[in-house]
Amino acid sequence: MTRIKNLPVNTAGGSYNVTVSRGGISALSEIWHLDRKIMVVTDDGVPAEYAKKVLSQCKDGFIVTLPQGEATKNTENLIYLWQRMAKENMTRTDAVIAVGGGVVGDLSGFASATYMRGIDFYNVPTTVLSQVDSSVGGKTAVDFGGYKNIVGAFWQPKGVMIDCETLLTLEPRQVSNGLSEAVKMAATFDAELFSFMEENGIYENIEEIITRAVQIKIRVVEEDEREGGLRKVLNFGHTLAHALESIYSFDEYYHGECVAMGMVPMCSRSAKERLVKVLQKAGLPTEIPCNIEALGEAVTHDKKMSGKTLTFITCPEIGSYEMKTLSAKDFCDKVGKAEL
Ligand code: GLY
Repeated sequence: MTRIKNLPVNTAGGSYNVTVSRGGISALSEIWHLDRKIMVVTDDGVPAEYAKKVLSQCKDGFIVTLPQGEATKNTENLIYLWQRMAKENMTRTDAVIAVGGGVVGDLSGFASATYMRGIDFYNVPTTVLSQVDSSVGGKTAVDFGGYKNIVGAFWQPKGVMIDCETLLTLEPRQVSNGLSEAVKMAATFDAELFSFMEENGIYENIEEIITRAVQIKIRVVEEDEREGGLRKVLNFGHTLAHALESIYSFDEYYHGECVAMGMVPMCSRSAKERLVKVLQKAGLPTEIPCNIEALGEAVTHDKKMSGKTLTFITCPEIGSYEMKTLSAKDFCDKVGKAEL
């Protein structure tokens, strides 16, 4: 393994390292406690050899392969994971390792948080999206009743291994999908990283960009593990993204693509100009493909559960953010008139 960076995370819910590496997937037993029974959870879109490589380093264990896609993140599969753990007589001192993207990580993280009131969980994120965002910070969940991530827990992993070699098997659209969250973090928190993306090749420098985005994410979750304040800034672009996700299927637009389109109307004119160029450079869409009425309807539906107002993030200039609250209707009006 070539260790690119070891990034410590310290939160009230637990301390662990995010290791950014090349080849780290083959060296997990050097740094993690795998001398026990391990359930390795993956999906059928992830090269099967990754999970096999992970299991081969465990004293005992088994692999569960779920179908790829957001629809997997449901209570049926949560129960299925509990059943497998119980059937294999897993105890409080055993552990779970997720090998895959955000769906696998969120679902198996929540299974770990709840089985026997919580067992150790490790994450090997294999998509850019999960590497820069969902694998760090301990959010675990399943979708339920038509709502994304509505049932879940904060459950910090015991370790996260980002192996940049896994990116070699990703299709370019998937790489762009994850880069969207890295652009988001740079646009709101890190003008220097944003300039780096403007001035340098994005794909050529992907390891550096992932590392710096993870450093931002760590800073945010260390300050606000439970999303009382600062962590909300990570939702930049997500109000419109969730609305777009409810209008379009997950294949039509990936999450990161919806975030990219959702960030643009949240920027001042000067920030927008710079953001659009970087998003395009990263291979992401920048224009909302539907009319404002359809979008407004979707935003209002999404807010059904939390009353009539919504809090969202704007970007007045690159490297900064503002948190604003408006009624869903005023929000949509202002998006339509480009007045945010
Ligand atoms: N994906 C946003 C967060 O972890 O808070």
